[in-house]
Amino acid sequence: MHVLPGSNVAQRCACQTLDQRQRLFRAAHIPPRYQHCTLQDYKAADAETSKWIAKAEAQRILDDYLVIDGRGLVFTGAVGVGKTHLAVAILRELIERYQAHGLFYQFGALLRQIQDSYNPVSQTSELKVLQPVFDAEVLVLDELGASKPTDWVRDTMMQIINTRYNDKRLTIFTTNYLDTRKNEKDIGEILEDRIGTALRSRLYEMCKTVVIEGEDYRKAMANARPTWRGGTSLLFQKQPIRLWAVRSCHSPARLLPGRWRHSER
Ligand SMILES: Nc1ncnc2c1ncn2[C@@H]1O[C@H](COP(=O)(O)OP(=O)(O)OP(=O)(O)O)[C@@H](O)[C@H]1O
Ligand SMILES: [Mg+2]
Repeated sequence: MHVLPGSNVAQRCACQTLDQRQRLFRAAHIPPRYQHCTLQDYKAADAETSKWIAKAEAQRILDDYLVIDGRGLVFTGAVGVGKTHLAVAILRELIERYQAHGLFYQFGALLRQIQDSYNPVSQTSELKVLQPVFDAEVLVLDELGASKPTDWVRDTMMQIINTRYNDKRLTIFTTNYLDTRKNEKDIGEILEDRIGTALRSRLYEMCKTVVIEGEDYRKAMANARPTWRGGTSLLFQKQPIRLWAVRSCHSPARLLPGRWRHSER
């Protein structure tokens, strides 16, 4: 802390703020694969309207964080459209800008941790796991609905989400499950089937739903990279030279020492 000159206002030093941010960033438990994710590097082509909207919604959370009263987002869409990327980008930026106490959890992993810490004697889940989830100023819950919806899973989800809902704490969800089926023939499950009607209802109030459409970015990146075929063909280009070099070492002349010596003379 230092006192601002000409006043009696105390302010945290810049070095302390940096330390604090680093501490908060580490405590947020963002998986290494996503630690680099920012809003700036989330790309969208001109025609990808849903991605621009998703980016704008993420930006709105960042700009209005102090006045949004805990209303978060549900990013929904197919695999690889960048839902987790955007959720992490929000979390990162809130730590950076506001030094928010944030936490990232993949929902399935959180449920497993709670299950592992379950105490059959007291019949309560270990608060060591749950309390930080209740208290985090901003929580990313990745892959909502991915776990098999047993009664226990639904009760636990309800406990977590209801607590945060009551406390008006900001939560960002991602899910692969949409709210509606594509058409009458589509028999796949929707989000409500996975998390139950009561929970879906609460989510409407505590979050805005943002549907992201588009190609799987992972697949697009893999296709843009030089393929093994390309790599192999490069090898083949070099191979005649290598083979020639190998063959020259084992050429009949060298395998026939007499002749070799003879030609050396
Ligand atoms: N529009 C984008 N611009 C830049 N990188 C992107 C974009 N979309 C996705 N990515 C990158 O692609 C990878 C996959 O994205 P991500 O994991 O966020 O997708 P997802 O929608 O959460 O997929 P899943 O449903 O499988 O969880 C990540 O490395 C992410 O950084
Ligand atoms: Mg994801």
